[in-house]
Amino acid sequence: MNVDVSLGTRSYRIVVASGALATVGPRLRELSVGARAALVSDGAVARLYGKTVMASLESAGFTVATIEVPEGEGAKTLAIAQHCWNELLAAGLDRTSTVLALGGGAVGDVAGFAAATYMRGINFVQLPTTVLAQVDASIGGKTAIDHPLAKNLIGAFHQPRLVLVDPAVARTLPEREFRSGLAEIAKHGIVLEAEYFAELERDVEPLLARELGVLERIIGGSCRLKASVVERDEREAELRHVLNYGHTIGHALEAVTGYARFAHGEAVSLGIVAEARLARRLGVAGDETVARQERLLEALGLPVRAAAIDVEPVVGAIARDKKSKDGRVPFVLAPKIGAFRLVYDVPAADVRAVIASLGS
Ligand code: GLY
Repeated sequence: MNVDVSLGTRSYRIVVASGALATVGPRLRELSVGARAALVSDGAVARLYGKTVMASLESAGFTVATIEVPEGEGAKTLAIAQHCWNELLAAGLDRTSTVLALGGGAVGDVAGFAAATYMRGINFVQLPTTVLAQVDASIGGKTAIDHPLAKNLIGAFHQPRLVLVDPAVARTLPEREFRSGLAEIAKHGIVLEAEYFAELERDVEPLLARELGVLERIIGGSCRLKASVVERDEREAELRHVLNYGHTIGHALEAVTGYARFAHGEAVSLGIVAEARLARRLGVAGDETVARQERLLEALGLPVRAAAIDVEPVVGAIARDKKSKDGRVPFVLAPKIGAFRLVYDVPAADVRAVIASLGS
């Protein structure tokens, strides 16, 4: 399946196909970029897929430097960005060259940031290897490193020239990481498309069994939905906030638990449960809309309850949300499946109540 992201001169294609990683060389050639490239990856991912990607690039005539970065969020520092710039310079990359990110969201973020800033921006290709990166982080051009006081605070919008999503890669992920990515998939269905949500409800079993055809259709559908949002609001003036559904409370839960207790998708799942209940509490959504979300998340093996959450620190972390405007934090609410509404000035008492309800 191909999904074209239409952004004028910054348009690009997302290819969702089994074996896509092995086609990167000829596809990059078609974009008429220069012959030099750098492949950024962490050690574990490089061992699994580095050879395939390198072979494809080299047989298409590219000279490729490899840059290893640490695994996970530890890659998103100024020191690692500096390391990437040094390596790009040492390998002689110029403004026609390409940086390729092979890995999960963190690798994509730091490699994209290096590509966005080196010589004021060079070509960038995303080769995402986690479900989360395939359906969310690799699409839309958000790149960033972390500031010691806040995640993703230092960054740039820099769209990739190409995204290659190989759903077969998702079959090799550890169970917890695979399920974590499904939270973003559920999110897309809940706020963007009722038919897609119903497809997820129907396909829970083959999806969890990671049947290749189902993975390709579901991951491809999620890429299509995310692309449709990015096309309409590339730089997140407002509409793109919809992708933050479940994240306002989810990010806060992650922050107050030191990014150790929950995987990102687990925190998003709990955030969705809380924000769905918030919509009901505010009279925006009915019982069945809330129940369908919880049922799907639970069926996907994601948490819908969490014991021992201390409410006040979570409320404090929400107040520091990066998306706040003049101190007003936007909440995305789902009035029904496949629809959303942005609401500012949600009473703190209601937010407190739904966070507390996660314990039951
Ligand atoms: N992950 C949210 C966004 O791309 O806007």
